[in-house]
Amino acid sequence: MRISLSNKLALLFAAITVAAIGVLYLYVAPGLQQRLVDEKLDQLAAAAQKHSGPIAETVGSSDTSREIRNLVNNAALGSGSRVTLLSVSVALAPVGPQLSPLADSSNPNSAETLSFPVAELAAQSGKSRTGTESAASGTVAEAAYPVSYQGRVARVIVYSDPVSDVVRNVAIVRHEILVAGGIALVLALIGGYLVARALAHRVKRLELAAERVAAGEFEDPIPVDSTDELGQLASAFNQMQRQLAQLDLTRKKFIATASHELRTPIFSLGGFVELLEDEELDADTRRRFLDQVREQVERLRKLSVDLLDLSRLEAGSLELRPEQVDLGELTRSVSGEFEPTLAQHDAHLELRLARRIDAQCDPVRVAQIMRILIDNALTHTPPGTRIVVTAARHNGHLRMAVRDDGYGIEAEAMQRIFEPFYTADDAQGSGLGLAIASELAERMAGRLTARSGPGETVFTLEIPG
Ligand SMILES: Nc1ncnc2c1ncn2[C@@H]1O[C@H](COP(=O)(O)OP(=O)(O)OP(=O)(O)O)[C@@H](O)[C@H]1O
Ligand SMILES: [Mg+2]
Repeated sequence: MRISLSNKLALLFAAITVAAIGVLYLYVAPGLQQRLVDEKLDQLAAAAQKHSGPIAETVGSSDTSREIRNLVNNAALGSGSRVTLLSVSVALAPVGPQLSPLADSSNPNSAETLSFPVAELAAQSGKSRTGTESAASGTVAEAAYPVSYQGRVARVIVYSDPVSDVVRNVAIVRHEILVAGGIALVLALIGGYLVARALAHRVKRLELAAERVAAGEFEDPIPVDSTDELGQLASAFNQMQRQLAQLDLTRKKFIATASHELRTPIFSLGGFVELLEDEELDADTRRRFLDQVREQVERLRKLSVDLLDLSRLEAGSLELRPEQVDLGELTRSVSGEFEPTLAQHDAHLELRLARRIDAQCDPVRVAQIMRILIDNALTHTPPGTRIVVTAARHNGHLRMAVRDDGYGIEAEAMQRIFEPFYTADDAQGSGLGLAIASELAERMAGRLTARSGPGETVFTLEIPG
């Protein structure tokens, strides 16, 4: 069974309220009663100490019972409690001392008959005692004060007071707790339900928004109406939605540009194939057309390889295979591949390499980055350019740089040269080279940086290894 968030919270509120009432009812209220009774007993014991002197002095004296009764009445008036004087007669074991009333501040006919168990204890121990007794009218608190004469307890004076009002008051308090608790419980249930429903409503809004995003709608942000956790979640969600929208846009642009880039050579190929079908073409024109076809096929091949590389890099599925290599040797070999192109461009390439650079890296991918950089230094520069390629170990990192003395890249274009499909000139490139190179560098936990000014452009690759 699925219990909704609002019901769970309402039940939790109710459970906390019930627990609080339970503690009040079962623990605090009885404790209160005990404390009040103890206080009463302390009062009686203090009164016994204070008012018993004159009565104690009558033991062994010739005071008449009338005089004694007067003293008992005085003690009762002074202490505000009932005072009973008991005489203790010695009896043989096992019965123990026998107590019999001598005088009582209450009218013996109308007063309640009490057995004074504390008096017996006081007589046995010779010390003051307090305690309670259950009588017909309710609980009575008692303090017994023993009076010794000739080495034994001869009298016990008992001060007693009913505590039934305390018990009654505590019962009222308990009842009130139950009533107030009942009201609190209802309020907790309603309050908990309402609070939880408001929360659930906000959570539902997030859920619906997430469903919209899942369906590819990124337009409507969720209103952020508070700074609490749900508010923060909503802003995080909106942020995510913005990023997803941006990603979506980039992806769509990527696909549109990629298909456009693919379409151009394909159309051009189609055109040349049609032209080649003409049987009356002379050998020279035919060769020219075939050269064009080869060029377009080569362009298509490079584009498809580049697109595959880039998508693998972006999906994180491109595997690196690091191995021990001599970076100097690798640079020399990659530069060697460019000899025919260098001659075509009348360019000059200079290698500045440390003698031996032992490195741990993926040679295929490092070579790919170098090719991209050297190719750019040739493609986007005027004929007769000087290119300097350096490789060395620097601060524990491998550092390779390709420098050329071409026109340089404009500051505006510098911001965007690493974007896929971005080209800053009309050299007919597809704009994927630097995007792939920088993604590759990042994938190797390194970075590719560019610096350019009039007459000098430097691309530097730094990777651990
Ligand atoms: N050494 C350089 N000198 C001047 N401009 C450069 C240099 N390297 C790159 N650029 C500029 O940066 C742009 C992006 O370079 P990138 O290598 O990504 O693409 P591309 O060379 O145009 O195409 P591709 O490399 O995919 O064939 C280039 O179009 C060019 O305008
Ligand atoms: Mg390039």
